[in-house]
Amino acid sequence: METAAVTMEWAMVELLHRPDAMAAATSELDRVVGRGRWVTESDLPDLPYLDAVVKETMRLHPVGPLLIPHQAREDAVVGGYDVPAGARVLVNAWAVGRDPASWPEAPGAFRPGRFFAGGSAEGVGVHGTHFQLLPFGSGRRMCPAHNLVMKEVWRRWRTLCTGSRGGCRTGCTRGHEHGGILRAERKSEGAARCHSRAKAAGALLRRSRLAK
Ligand code: HEM
Repeated sequence: METAAVTMEWAMVELLHRPDAMAAATSELDRVVGRGRWVTESDLPDLPYLDAVVKETMRLHPVGPLLIPHQAREDAVVGGYDVPAGARVLVNAWAVGRDPASWPEAPGAFRPGRFFAGGSAEGVGVHGTHFQLLPFGSGRRMCPAHNLVMKEVWRRWRTLCTGSRGGCRTGCTRGHEHGGILRAERKSEGAARCHSRAKAAGALLRRSRLAK
């Protein structure tokens, strides 16, 4: 699940640079879950801010910026351009996710609130039915693991956010994506200081290790 780990890393980098977003995420957890237990899957509908953080991360930092190369099976016209049968087609999901025509509200900024009711991206999801946000592609060749991945990302959030809160330290940098056609990762390593959030975090960790 390295792809899920890359998404988590980007989410943490963005939150570390946005203390207000980090505070909103942790206070939502405090309100809904408290500090005496881990988040469970049944809490998810009550954690819209964390959900929006994941979406916003996938919008700005899709793990596969050009998806996977496709091939046109028949002649087509897309946006006025002729695409002949057999042509290699690359979908720039990275650029689509930052296109001001689809994302009029500060497209380059990390603003999870845009996905909230009344926000400019209300109702937009990551599962391939909204063409302005395609971290998993769309259609028959879209990532078959999209549901599994979203659960996995959540599982990791659970541990990370319930147990700790982060603070930016020198050297923590957003960096730039690099990588080849298929992957985008951070260019430089960052460093962050984490504090235990839950008084019971240690006990929770011990308990969950015992339960394994
Ligand atoms: C954050 C995690 C992940 C992201 C963002 C992601 C994204 C993608 C994208 C963009 C594609 C290409 C879709 C297209 O070109 O239309 C793809 C294809 C694929 N993904 Fe994922 N993926 C993730 C994790 C996984 C995992 C964990 C698995 C396996 C357990 C997986 C299995 C596949 C397979 C088999 C394909 C090829 C589907 C095909 O060509 O028919 N992905 N994924």
